[in-house]
Amino acid sequence: MSYAIAMTCRGCRREYPIEPINVCEFCFGPLEITYDYDGIARNISRESITQGPQTMWRYDAFLPVRKEDALDMGTGLTPLLKADNLGKLFGLDNLWIKNDSVNPTFSFKDRPVSVTTSKALEFEFGVLACPSTGNLMGAVAAHGAKAGMRTLVFYPSDLEKGKIIGAAIYGPTLIAVDGTYDQANRLASELADNYRWAVVNINMRAFYAEGSKSLGYEVAEQLGWRAPDHCVVPAASGELHTKIWKGLQEMGNVGLIEAPKTEMHLTQAEGNAPIVQAFENDWKAVKPVKPNTIAKSLAIGDPASGMFALEVLRETGGTAVACLEEEVVEGIKLLAETEGIFTETAGGVVISGLRRLAESGKIKRDELTVAFITGNGLKTQEVVEDLIDPVETSPDYDDFEKAMNERGYQDLANPELKVP
Ligand SMILES: Cc1ncc(COP(=O)(O)O)c(C=O)c1O
Ligand SMILES: [Zn+2]
Repeated sequence: MSYAIAMTCRGCRREYPIEPINVCEFCFGPLEITYDYDGIARNISRESITQGPQTMWRYDAFLPVRKEDALDMGTGLTPLLKADNLGKLFGLDNLWIKNDSVNPTFSFKDRPVSVTTSKALEFEFGVLACPSTGNLMGAVAAHGAKAGMRTLVFYPSDLEKGKIIGAAIYGPTLIAVDGTYDQANRLASELADNYRWAVVNINMRAFYAEGSKSLGYEVAEQLGWRAPDHCVVPAASGELHTKIWKGLQEMGNVGLIEAPKTEMHLTQAEGNAPIVQAFENDWKAVKPVKPNTIAKSLAIGDPASGMFALEVLRETGGTAVACLEEEVVEGIKLLAETEGIFTETAGGVVISGLRRLAESGKIKRDELTVAFITGNGLKTQEVVEDLIDPVETSPDYDDFEKAMNERGYQDLANPELKVP
């Protein structure tokens, strides 16, 4: 039995039974899963969690599916790494990287999709679908393949090749939409009204959203059962940001950790920063923009959960920051050169946003900070293609030395170990 008891409207608080519906019939507010937290608190402990699977499904008590019924492809429990080299550069002594780029399809999207696919099977849907900025469609195609479902993925046709191939390999029907993500999303929403499809981020959104909470649980467990002082999170729809916070709060509610006092920061790139804009202007709602950014995975101009992300920013004292477009690639390179982690553009946005938060004093030297790296750099290789500038040589020894000297690499002959 799951501890999920109902779906509750975030607008008028009306309750619904757990079904594949997305919005409240009365006020059109989004629905959110609610749980029997007393039951969770009575039956779940740190010990029972650590005896669970070595995946996100050790936290099934907080999800609308029991682990026995889950489509578990090994998602989650990804590394939380102390980032001393990067921390030194930014003046942060207690910086950690949650490396969620090493999930089965190389982004955090495996978390929401693992939950949604499990639920779609329970509801006996034959088709799993999504509109996507790139990572989600890989996760949907892979989970659908494993579940034996048909899959359809809608994406803006100018997406990076690595994202398209990263989904195509699992055999979905690819729908390249000549337009933006927001337009692809609108088309998929209209179709979801008439076709019996489980569209993971539309009619299944309430289940989908829950999966991202697991990032919050894992980070708290990996830090020795405590919440960080700061989280730095990339935002597109804003869902991830709000759900990491929900996860931390839930852990506090059932007594697994002390009540969190985390400041939940959010990062976007200058060319698509509608949530940052609303935050800076103190608006209650987000004004849609037309994205023009290198960070395509975050290119949602009309973010579905933007308003809730604004609420979390205000509630937690977090800050929303935009980095410059050229800082996206700088952030990618910096993380790779200091910590050995190759992230995609969303991760570049996080690292450059983090730098701004540290430089402005929003994050202090000794405060425990977690930066969320949510996607893998091998999917957006084109943005760092200028790195391919090798020393060219024949297989001849003398030719090699000549070529190295021409490039000024004489110092590489016998250098001393340089610890950063
Ligand atoms: C790598 C990556 N990080 C972060 C996000 C943001 O997620 P959300 O839409 O929940 O804000 C996305 C969205 O697609 C993504 O692909
Ligand atoms: Zn309502």
